Amino acid sequence: MGHEKIETNVGLMALLIVIAISFGGLVEIVPLFFLKDTTEPVKGLKPYTALQLEGRDIYIREGCYTCHSQMIRPFRAETERYGHYSVAGEFVYDHPFQWGSKRTGPDLHRVGGRYSDDWHRLHLMNPRDVVPESNMPGFPWLAENIIDDELTTKKLNAMRILGVPYTDEDINNASTAVKNKTEMDALIDYLQILGTSIKTKR
Ligand code: HEC
Repeated sequence: MGHEKIETNVGLMALLIVIAISFGGLVEIVPLFFLKDTTEPVKGLKPYTALQLEGRDIYIREGCYTCHSQMIRPFRAETERYGHYSVAGEFVYDHPFQWGSKRTGPDLHRVGGRYSDDWHRLHLMNPRDVVPESNMPGFPWLAENIIDDELTTKKLNAMRILGVPYTDEDINNASTAVKNKTEMDALIDYLQILGTSIKTKR
């Protein structure tokens, strides 16, 4: 009887579906907020420097995440290739995190320190100069664009509000730290720190 009422009333049905699904979602998600593992930074995790934070914004602006994930899954095929699987505590200063799941190119979570700055420079100018079969686009304009430092201080401040432990000094020095750097400098500085907070064997 009751069932028939629900099944013949679209509004009621929709409402009950929403309640059922949100309950399922909450049961899965809410406990994560209270798990220490997922909310505490791993030992050795440092907040991004002002330059790295600007680099991260370039990464997002240029859509690098549309081809690259930053999330190594705990499977042998992944850890053999990329190194230690990603753990939640490595991302607590990432707002928002760049995990993603689209992998046209390789995962980048542990790319930090794998190549030299010069390699990245050549690769970002024209990937085919260093990886002939690459279908990644070049980003040559990054080498000419100077970082816009007007908002850097505000960006660090916003991160601090979200819980990233920047000191007053970090914030006061933020725009000087990125002055006259190119977007390429910032992006490479960001790439080189990725995944380096825990020691990994490869
Ligand atoms: C259209 C897809 C695409 C986009 C967009 C893209 N990449 Fe790639 N990327 C690839 C592919 C494919 C490879 C593998 C071939 C190569 O090394 O060039 C790659 C390789 C890389 C590597 C080398 C990784 C390794 O472990 O060897 C880095 C670093 C990298 N990309 C950074 C970036 C950055 C930074 C951006 C944004 C500015 C970006 N990519 C945008 C497709 C893409």
